[in-house]
Amino acid sequence: MTIFRTLAAGLGALALTLSAQAAGGAKHAHAPDDGWPFAGPVGQLEMDSVQRGYQVYREVCSSCHGMDLLSYRNLGEKGGPYYDPAYPNANDNPMVKAFAASDEILDPIPNDAGDHDYRPARTSDPFRTPYANKQAARAANGGALPPDLSVITKARGDGADGSGASYVFSLLSGYPDSDEISTRTGDDGLNVNYLRFNEEHLHGTLVQPAGQYYNPYFSGDTGAQWDGDPRHVPEGGFLAMAPQLIEGRVEYIDGTEASVEQMAYDVAQFLQWAGDPKQEQRKALGLPSILYLLLLAILLWFSYHRIWRNVDH
Ligand code: HEC
Repeated sequence: MTIFRTLAAGLGALALTLSAQAAGGAKHAHAPDDGWPFAGPVGQLEMDSVQRGYQVYREVCSSCHGMDLLSYRNLGEKGGPYYDPAYPNANDNPMVKAFAASDEILDPIPNDAGDHDYRPARTSDPFRTPYANKQAARAANGGALPPDLSVITKARGDGADGSGASYVFSLLSGYPDSDEISTRTGDDGLNVNYLRFNEEHLHGTLVQPAGQYYNPYFSGDTGAQWDGDPRHVPEGGFLAMAPQLIEGRVEYIDGTEASVEQMAYDVAQFLQWAGDPKQEQRKALGLPSILYLLLLAILLWFSYHRIWRNVDH
């Protein structure tokens, strides 16, 4: 009897796995081709890239996504992208001051009439928030809430080194090219955008719901929009964020060519820094501490044997 039960359980598990596969699931996020410079116990962030990533955040993402946990001065603190030893106090750092001053924020302290005025941000202020509140954010984005990006690389990773950055990188560079998306007129006379799949197991068209965009790395279910074999549906889902990065979307201050991959790489690395602004120092301290403890252990072992040399035990 037990053998049948085991068999039945096994078959049941298999059926579940298969149905999970049929439901699509998201494509597994991947790191850039050369991996992440910050991966591993001694890897370090590539600060030029973190700086470029901040430029991408400022010029592209910050119109919809806030980063409430960061203040301008964090950019110039030790381990930050604009840290300069000439300015140990980040509030004096001219780059940081310039970034803050060029953002207008609503003063949290009311004026004499009890109203809040706009004023240039100071280095001690948190990053400018794009919307007054969540309702306004949803209203501007077709009902979807652009999440705060302060700790997004922690929130969307599976805990593996750099997995959150890989997710951001894959998501942002993983939208289908615009020439893969066709448009036809629907029954109601409105335009319908769709993608055609022509792969071995994947034959059919996938219709993008209005205001939603297909991305293979976004977890969701594409089944309802798919006219092909229901056992093989495209991986991924639909999200309310349109593709944000198109070739040359920013003009990098340092002259780097702004390809989609480059911008996705840079902004992912910036968000990796933002989620853990002290990681540089922690890692810089980690290896020497381990070596020190190792050396200490060896010395202790030898002295132990020396001290107890003449004692029977
Ligand atoms: C025009 C507004 C807008 C801009 C600009 C924008 N986003 Fe978004 N983003 C959204 C919205 C809306 C969502 C929520 C989508 C949903 O849940 O359907 C979102 C979701 C996300 C998510 C979360 C996806 C998930 O797993 O839930 C990430 C990460 C993200 N955006 C990163 C970025 C980055 C990085 C940039 C800049 C390169 C950027 N966004 C620019 C509107 C925007």
